[in-house]
Amino acid sequence: MGDSASSLDLLRQVSQRLQHSDAPQLDALWILAQVLQLDHRDPKLRSDLEMTTEQRGQFLEMADRRAGGEPLAYILGEWEFYGYTLEVTPSVLVPRPETELLVEWALELLKGRSDPRIVEVGVGCAALVIALAQQRPDLSAIAVDCSAGALEVARRNLQRHQLLDRIELVQGHLLEPIDGRHDLIISNPPYIVEGDPRLSADVARFEPKAALIDNIDGDGIGFHRALIDDFPRCVNATGSLLMECGEGQVPAIERYARERGRRATSRRDLARIPRAVHVDLDPAG
Ligand SMILES: C[S@@+](CC[C@H](N)C(=O)[O-])C[C@H]1O[C@@H](n2cnc3c(N)ncnc32)[C@H](O)[C@@H]1O
Repeated sequence: MGDSASSLDLLRQVSQRLQHSDAPQLDALWILAQVLQLDHRDPKLRSDLEMTTEQRGQFLEMADRRAGGEPLAYILGEWEFYGYTLEVTPSVLVPRPETELLVEWALELLKGRSDPRIVEVGVGCAALVIALAQQRPDLSAIAVDCSAGALEVARRNLQRHQLLDRIELVQGHLLEPIDGRHDLIISNPPYIVEGDPRLSADVARFEPKAALIDNIDGDGIGFHRALIDDFPRCVNATGSLLMECGEGQVPAIERYARERGRRATSRRDLARIPRAVHVDLDPAG
């Protein structure tokens, strides 16, 4: 690519190089927007724009990273979840759109409760708990993660969204650091089985293993079992547990909860895949 290429030329050439991506044109456009410090929806991006040599160099370098399979979110350094912009780094999982189901369901479960207190296990970049706290200004939370790197990113995101006074971050294992009784425990835990061929090679290569792989029982639902076993200690009489799960995992998780005398229900995501399980203390509901 010559030094004199215009932004539209560069967009076309880079889109062709990103053919392995699900959305090559969009990827190229987002990268261009970042380099030119424009919003990716800005119509100016559709016209031919002046670019400095430095901007062209930056654009091509970021496009090369994308061509090498790196997730766009890490290249841009930020990502959107539930309409909120969050910093993301390779220390955290990139928040997925299907996880918005957990936000919607949690908001329903918290309706009618004032000043709800919740716990999130596996906070990552804090996408879930930030979305919930923004939707419910009376909510407070304790958010746990085992990863110091993830907690640093979460802290910066809480600061960015001015939520440090309502969300406490704690390093630890599952619910171990939690005392007292809360209204809801929420978690999108690691639920991939090591070596699962359905996991894309790029996700496995770039996203943190501790955020992906079930290292408790190894069959994908070890975290769900552990949370079902321990959550009663951490919730009040009407409190409950809400978890995201992987494709095909819902029946086994519901069975495990019911065998322990709990009531379990599930919901599907927008792709109609059963994606979340809610577990109540009271089997009579
Ligand atoms: C699938 S990611 C979820 C991140 C974020 N909540 C989301 O929904 O995008 C799982 C998170 O759990 C954390 N984690 C893994 N094992 C853990 C453990 N034993 N205790 C607490 N957190 C853990 C990982 O570091 C990772 O941040």
